Amino acid sequence: MAANVALDALLHEHRRFPPPPELSASANAQPEIYDEAAKDHLAFWEQMAERLDWAERWDHVLDWELPYAKWFVGGKLNAAVNCVDRHVAAGRGDMVAFHWVADAEHDRRDVTYADLHREVCKAANALTELGIQAGDRVAIYMPMIPETVVAMLACARIGAPHTVVFCGFSAEALRGRILDCNCRAVITVDGQFRRGSPAPVKPTVDDAVAACPDVRHVLVVRRTGDEVNWQDGRDHWWHDAVDPQPEEHEAQAFDAEHPLYIMYTSGTTAKPKGILHTTGGYLTHVSATHHYIFDLQPETDVYWCAADIGWVTGHSYIVYGPLANGATSLMYEGTPHPGDKDRWWKLIEEHKVTILYTAPTTIRTFMKWGAQELQRYDLSSLRVLGSVGEPINPEAWIWYHTYVGGGKAPVVDTWWQTETGGILITPLPGITEAKPGAAMRPFPGISADVVDDEGKPVPNGSGGFLVITQPWPGMLRGIWGDDQRYRHTYWSRFDGVYFAGDGAKKDEDGDLWLLGRVDDVMNVSGHRISTAEIEHALVGHPSVAEAAVVGATDAITGQAIVAFVTVRGHVADDDAGGERFVEDLRNHVATAIGPIAKPRQIMITPELPKTRSGKIMRRLLRDIAENRELGDVTTLLDPTITDMIRERMADRAEEHEG
Ligand code: WT7
Repeated sequence: MAANVALDALLHEHRRFPPPPELSASANAQPEIYDEAAKDHLAFWEQMAERLDWAERWDHVLDWELPYAKWFVGGKLNAAVNCVDRHVAAGRGDMVAFHWVADAEHDRRDVTYADLHREVCKAANALTELGIQAGDRVAIYMPMIPETVVAMLACARIGAPHTVVFCGFSAEALRGRILDCNCRAVITVDGQFRRGSPAPVKPTVDDAVAACPDVRHVLVVRRTGDEVNWQDGRDHWWHDAVDPQPEEHEAQAFDAEHPLYIMYTSGTTAKPKGILHTTGGYLTHVSATHHYIFDLQPETDVYWCAADIGWVTGHSYIVYGPLANGATSLMYEGTPHPGDKDRWWKLIEEHKVTILYTAPTTIRTFMKWGAQELQRYDLSSLRVLGSVGEPINPEAWIWYHTYVGGGKAPVVDTWWQTETGGILITPLPGITEAKPGAAMRPFPGISADVVDDEGKPVPNGSGGFLVITQPWPGMLRGIWGDDQRYRHTYWSRFDGVYFAGDGAKKDEDGDLWLLGRVDDVMNVSGHRISTAEIEHALVGHPSVAEAAVVGATDAITGQAIVAFVTVRGHVADDDAGGERFVEDLRNHVATAIGPIAKPRQIMITPELPKTRSGKIMRRLLRDIAENRELGDVTTLLDPTITDMIRERMADRAEEHEG
C-alpha cells in the first residue's frame, strides 16, 4: 500500500483543531444533520434535492439494483436553469457569477448571472441551429475562460452531454475521447495564453478531428487572434454562430437520470474510462456539499476554486455546485509559476476572496517559495480553506492554516474522485474538529468504511481499503460503453460495496485518513495518471522493447513518474548516456498523452526485473526509484538485474551533479 503520509508519526502527535466559533454560529453549521442523515439517509438526500428547482417532483428517491442506481426517479429538471435562470428570476441577475482574471495581468471581466443567462441562451440556440440535439455528445477543449462555462451550460440546457477534455491533453488523447463517446461537435479556441504568451490550440483539434468522421461542427472562440486553418462547412467562429442568436431560450426539463456529462479518467489499463454523470442526483450532491463544506454565504462570499475546468473538480466545484448555489466566484486563467510568486496573494487581497479550494501540491510549491511571498498581502478575508486531489501532509496542512489562513481559517481536507461526482469524506468547518492530514468523516448521508482483504471492517487504529457502503446521489452511473469494466473495476473487489481504489486508516477515534492509491494509478500534482497508459505510449516508440512505469514519492508533486525501458537494437553511440534518446522518449509520451504525463526520469536498462513467470516486478522498481532497500526478492528470476539498475541510476545521478 503506497502511504504518502507518515501516518504513525502523525497519529502520535494528536493535534486537533476545534471549529472556530464564528463558523459554528453560521446557519450552515447544523450539527444535527449527521444524526438526521444517519437515521434516514434517503430522507436527508430528498431534503437536499429540495434545494433545487424541479419542473416535476420525483416519485421516489432511489432505485438501487447493485451496481445501478437511479436517484429521484421520475423527477424532471434542467441543470442550466438551476445554475442560472432561477437566480435571475429571484432578482439576483446583477450578482457576479465570475470575476474572471486572465493570465495577463491587465485582462479581466466580470460575468453576472444575467450575462450568463444571455450567453447560455444564445449558445443553446446556436447549438440547436447547428443540429445538436438532446443526447448528442459535444466535446469541449478549452482553457479557463468564461466561454468554457457558457459552452458547458449551453450543452446542459439542450440536454447534450458534454465531455470536457483538459486543454493540455494531446491531439491523440483528445481524438481517443471524441471517438470513444462519438461526439458530434467540438467547442474550442484558436489559442490560449500561458504565462503571458499565446499558444495555438485549434491545430490540435484539427489534428484530432481529422480522424473523427462523426464530428460535423467545430465551434471556435477567438481568444488569441492568431491565424488558424479553416475548414468551411465544419468550422464556425463562436462570435458568428452565437452572437446574433436570440437572448431567450425555452429550456426543456430533462429526466433526473438524463446524462449530464462524461469525464474521462485514467484507470489501471491504457484506455481511459468515460465516467458518466447524470443530472438530478449529481446536482443535488454537488450543491449540497458545496453549501455545507465551504459554509457558502452566496450574498457575501467570494469563492475561489483554483482547479482547471478540464478536471472533475472544475466541473463540480467551479461550475455546477457554485452556480447552483448562486455563488460569486473568482476564476483565474493562469497557474502559479516561479516568475509570478505572489500573483495568488494579490488576487485574494484585491478580490477579498473568502473561500479558497486548491491542491496540496500547490500549497507545497508555495511553501518552497516561502511565507515571505504572502506576508506582504492582506489575506484576512479568507475564512475557509479547502484541500483536494491527494493526501495532504500535515506540514502542508499546518502551513496552509497558519500562513494562508492566518491561524484562524479551518482547513477542510476533502476526499472524492471523478467517479464519486462530489465530495464524500471531509470535515464540516463549523461542526467537526480537524486533524492535519485527516479527511475525518463521511459527509452526512454518505456511508463509508475501511475493510481488510476479506472485506471485513477493520477496528479503530487499523488500515485497509476504503469502501462506500451505500449508493450516493452523485455517484457515477457507469463507464461509457463498457458495462463490464464498470462492474469489474468498482463492484467486484468486495461484495456489495463500492471499491474506491484507495488505502485508508481509521484512527483511535474512528476518523478517516486517506493513504493514496492501492492500484497502478499514480497521483501526480493531484492528477490521476495511469502507469499502464504511459507504458503503452512508451512501447509505441519504435526503439522501445519493454517499459515499466512507477510512481515515486516526490516532495512537491506527491508522486513523480519514473520509467524503466529496454530498447530494441542500441541507442546511437554518439548519444552520451542516451540523453537525446531519453528526451525523445519524453516528448513521445507528451505527444501520445500530454505534457502532464512526461516522466520525470527515464532509465534505459538492458533488462527489467521479472518473476520466473515473466511478470515485471514494479514493486522493486518503486523501491529503486525511491532509493530504498529492496523488499522481498525471492521470486525474482535474476537478482543481479536490480543491482545493475541501481548502479546505473547512481551513475546518472553523479553525472547530473558533476
Ligand atoms: C483520487 C481521485 C476529486 C478531485 C480530484 C481528483 C485521490 C483525492 C484526496 C484527498 C487523499 C485524495 C484519491 C482518489 N484524492 N482527494 N483529500 N486525500 N487522496 O480526482 O483524478 O478522480 O482522483 O485522488 O487517491 O482516488 P481524480
